[in-house]
Amino acid sequence: MDRVLSGMQSSGKVHLGNFVGALQNWVKLQDRYDCYYFVADWHALTTGYTNPSALHESVTDLLVNFLAAGLDPDRCTIFLQSRIPEHAELHLLLSMITPLGWLERVPTYKEKQQELQDRDLSTYGFLGYPLLQTADIIIYRAKYVPVGVDQVPHLEISREIARRFNNFYGEIFPEPDALLTEFPKVPGVDGRKMSKSYGNAIYLSDSPKEVEQKIRTMTTDPARVKRTDKGDPENSPVYQLHKVFSTKEELAQVADGCRTAGIGCIDCKKILIKNVFAVLEPIWTKREALLNNPDQLRGIIEKGNDKARNVAQETMQLVRKAMGLY
Ligand code: TRP
Repeated sequence: MDRVLSGMQSSGKVHLGNFVGALQNWVKLQDRYDCYYFVADWHALTTGYTNPSALHESVTDLLVNFLAAGLDPDRCTIFLQSRIPEHAELHLLLSMITPLGWLERVPTYKEKQQELQDRDLSTYGFLGYPLLQTADIIIYRAKYVPVGVDQVPHLEISREIARRFNNFYGEIFPEPDALLTEFPKVPGVDGRKMSKSYGNAIYLSDSPKEVEQKIRTMTTDPARVKRTDKGDPENSPVYQLHKVFSTKEELAQVADGCRTAGIGCIDCKKILIKNVFAVLEPIWTKREALLNNPDQLRGIIEKGNDKARNVAQETMQLVRKAMGLY
């Protein structure tokens, strides 16, 4: 089986957008590939280095949610990046052969610096973000990397670095390919892209009450002031979420009801709440079981770490030898 690898940066809690956009897809890939999935806690430090307690909480949230979303430790390898120090060793060695210009021209470098102007991101570690990601991928000699389009520039530089390494030292690394999957973009409760930095996210760790509250208080088409006012569903963030979570019939029903004032916004939201709950209920149950059994959780991660580390160590033996190290 070809190997697949992907990671998620631990800089916040897992929300419905992450679930629909990434985790559900990871779950599907488990049976078709030899899958390695990890929490990128070092990557979280590149931008979140002043807030260790947030990082700590996020790591647990991610690991619990990986499992609650349906990743099965018997069918894939789940691990924590910082427990595999070989990633750091490979990152260092790759830094010897990586031209600075390659890193400086990765578009996410300038974009993220612009976006996070409240943080000092003129750091060595932040510039090296895509190089660490490259090490994450090629140390497992992974063939496919399931990611969103935003990660394509990182995959591009990973391929270039693998190629450069192979030119200098012999064919050790396959060039990894992005595995782009089309999934619906999940808008947040305000209609913008769901993101923790917009404060518009529904988290897998939210209680049923919190989820209900978040949906109940969503804005709808401003044209519908009174119950009898007709509206345009496309102007309502609620409808955008229906598109992701509701059936075709329900979608037609609420769209028509909005245009004709046949349905009120509260009833429209009730249907959405029911459907979001249907997605979250199995996750809530599994989360609770895992959180009540920290030993089981620790055991699963340790087993995954051991397995990942074995592969990483094998690769590093080849790499050290190829680069003339002892
Ligand atoms: N950069 C990725 C993100 O922000 C996380 C990540 C780190 C990753 N290392 C990786 C993804 C290796 C795929 C493969 O989502």
